[in-house]
Amino acid sequence: MLVRHFLTLRDFSPEELDRIVSRGAELKRLQAHGHTCMPLRGKTLAMIFGLSSTRTRVAFEVGMHQLGGHAINLGPQDSQIGRGEPIEDTARVLSEMVDAVMIRTLRHDDVTAFARASTVPVINGMTARFHPCQLLADIQTYAEVRGRTIEGRTVAFVGDGYNMCNSYINAARQFRFRLKIATPETHRPEEELLAATDTADLVESPRAAVEDADLVVTDVWSSMGHDEEAQDRRNAFDGYQVTPALLDFAGKDAIFMHCLPAHRGEEVSDDLFEDPRSVVYTEAGNRLHSQKALLEFLLGEPSAGGASPTADA
Ligand code: CP
Repeated sequence: MLVRHFLTLRDFSPEELDRIVSRGAELKRLQAHGHTCMPLRGKTLAMIFGLSSTRTRVAFEVGMHQLGGHAINLGPQDSQIGRGEPIEDTARVLSEMVDAVMIRTLRHDDVTAFARASTVPVINGMTARFHPCQLLADIQTYAEVRGRTIEGRTVAFVGDGYNMCNSYINAARQFRFRLKIATPETHRPEEELLAATDTADLVESPRAAVEDADLVVTDVWSSMGHDEEAQDRRNAFDGYQVTPALLDFAGKDAIFMHCLPAHRGEEVSDDLFEDPRSVVYTEAGNRLHSQKALLEFLLGEPSAGGASPTADA
């Protein structure tokens, strides 16, 4: 049987992604009403973290627990990967023991190499190129907060053209919205991603990006792997801070998202976090529900009507 991996949003069809996002919202409602839903009883997720994490780790670990399964964490010192065991051998060994693997590491090529050797689903928990799990939560959050899907809406990405920006370019194509991107010339997203879609465009300034936008998004100027460049980056991104005043140029129902952790006072002003247009904590919480929907999609099937056979509604 063909094994499905989730390394970028383009690994799934738009219909599959819509289904996962809707299911995430449904799982959130079920959880809020105290209904257990355990289609992954007896299943194990291995989580390989080569980099730090709060949201991704907690969401996958709690998510597996709530779905009836189990997650094990393999940090940099917990496996033989740190001592040089080849990625492909690790993939083949873990495939013998667990039902899925999540990996966070800077080198996207390592995740694709792992997936090629794996006979169980592999999930990208963030690389230097893409952060697809975050996008599932963001799209779910937009629909939850605004009561309509993001299809046909306008999204502004302001800041570093790095993994979040790349994933927003893929999301614009897969979830059918228009994306306007404002980055300094020196920190543009991947050209080939932009060339492959007519739904995302570079614009000349943060103001041009946010004008009439329904959603405004940013990310830190110095992501993991860029710590040494922090001061140079602060200079390069001068003028790219997202503030309540910048958001005033957006559409009247615009909301603000940030994948977190944030560097308040750099890419986002402190006061925007407390602004009613900011939905960053709902967004963070939806990492749990959207990742549960992703796990269920890859590892187990909900019954007709959406609820799991084990839901004790
Ligand atoms: N947004 C995000 O991926 O958060 P963590 O780095 O805490 O997992």
